[in-house]
Amino acid sequence: MSKAFIPYGRQSISAADVEAVCEALTSDYLTQGPLVPEFENSVAELSQCKYAIAANSATSALHVACLALGVGPGDLVWTTPNTFIASANCALYCDAQVDFVDIDPQTYNLCPIQLKEKLELAKFQNRLPKVVIPVHFGGHPCDMRALHELSKEYGFYIIEDASHAIGAKFKGQPVGSRYSDICVFSFHPVKVMTTAEGGMAVTNKEPLADAMRLLVHQGVTKNKREFQTRSPGDWYYEQQDLGFNYRMTELQAALGISQLKRLNQFIEKRRERVQNYYKLLQGLPIQLPSEADYAFSSWHLFPIVLFEALEPQRALIFQYLREQQIGTQVHYIPVHTQPFYQEKGFAWGDFPQSEEYYQRCLSLPLYPDLTYEEQVYVANALREAIDRAFVA
Ligand SMILES: Cc1ncc(COP(=O)(O)O)c(C=O)c1O
Repeated sequence: MSKAFIPYGRQSISAADVEAVCEALTSDYLTQGPLVPEFENSVAELSQCKYAIAANSATSALHVACLALGVGPGDLVWTTPNTFIASANCALYCDAQVDFVDIDPQTYNLCPIQLKEKLELAKFQNRLPKVVIPVHFGGHPCDMRALHELSKEYGFYIIEDASHAIGAKFKGQPVGSRYSDICVFSFHPVKVMTTAEGGMAVTNKEPLADAMRLLVHQGVTKNKREFQTRSPGDWYYEQQDLGFNYRMTELQAALGISQLKRLNQFIEKRRERVQNYYKLLQGLPIQLPSEADYAFSSWHLFPIVLFEALEPQRALIFQYLREQQIGTQVHYIPVHTQPFYQEKGFAWGDFPQSEEYYQRCLSLPLYPDLTYEEQVYVANALREAIDRAFVA
C-alpha cells in the first residue's frame, strides 16, 4: 500500500466541530445570525481586546484595518519581506505605497534595529510610514515592545499581522492586547485553528472597531443610533461609507467557536511536536527554529534553515522529501522579489537577510494530529535527503 501524504500543515476537525457546523446549517441563519458576534466576543476575550470584527479572510481584515487607519494615496506602509503577499497587498488596495524592512536572522521577524535605522533615514527624507505591519512569522511574536516604542517616537500606527499567531504571547500577554492599534488573525485551514476561510481584526479602540465593522458590511449600518438621517421605518439601513461584503458566515463562526475550545490543546500538541523534532533532528547541518525568551509561540510553522553548504541542494532535498510523500514548503518567497513587486522598483539584493533565509529554508510538517511515527519518518527522510545532497 502506498504511503499517505504528510502535508506541512493540516486542520484538526472533531465530531464536535462537525456537529456545530451542522447545527448552524439547519438553524434560521446562515449569515448575520447570533454565532458571528458570539465568536467575535470569544476572540476579543482571548486577545484581551475590547472589540473584534470577523471577516471572510485575514486578507479582508488587513484591508479594512488599513482603511480604518486612514491609509490612502500618498501614504507609506512598511512590512516584512518574509511574509505572505497579503501583508503587503492590503496597502496597495488602498492606493498607498509599500516598502519593506529586513528580518532578524534568529526569529525571521521584522528586525527592530533595522526598522530604527530605516525610520531615521525616512525622517530625514520626510518619508515616514503611516503604518508598519509586523508579522508574527510562524507564530513567533515580534519584539512588540521595541516596535511600540518606535511607533511612539516616529508617529506611525501598528497593525499586527498575527495570521500565524492566535494563542501566541509576548511577555506573557496575548498578541494584539497592548502594543498595536489593530491585530489580525487568519483561520485558513493550515493555520493554528480554522473556520475554513476566515479572519478577525481585534482592537481596543472604539472608532477603529466601528470603522472596520462598517467596512466589512458594505459601509452599511442598521443601528438606529448611528443613523445620520431620521429613520423612516424599521426597513431602513444607511450606507455611510464605500464598504465591501467581507462578512463571515454563521457556518464559519460555528466552526470557529468549536475550534476555539481546543486552541490551547492545539498549541500544546504543536509544542510537544516541536520538542520531538528538537530530539529527532539533532546533529543535522541545519538551524532549528527557537523561541526568544520574551516569546510564547503558537508554532504555526517549523521552519528549518539548511547550512550554507547545502543551499544549492535545497530544491533536491525538497524534491526527495516530496517523493517520500512529505510535503515540506518554503515560507516565504520574499514579497519584494515577486514580479509584481519588481515592477514597482524592488529588486533581488534589496533585503539580503530575507533573501538568504529564503534560499535555505524549509518548513517541516507540523500540526496537532501529526503522529510521533510520522515525525520519525520525516526526520529519517530528511537525514537521507541531506546525505544524498552532500554526494550530489
Ligand atoms: C502572514 C499572513 N498574512 C495574511 C494571510 C492571509 O490570510 P487569509 O488566507 O486568511 O486571507 C496569510 C495567509 O496565508 C499569512 O500567512
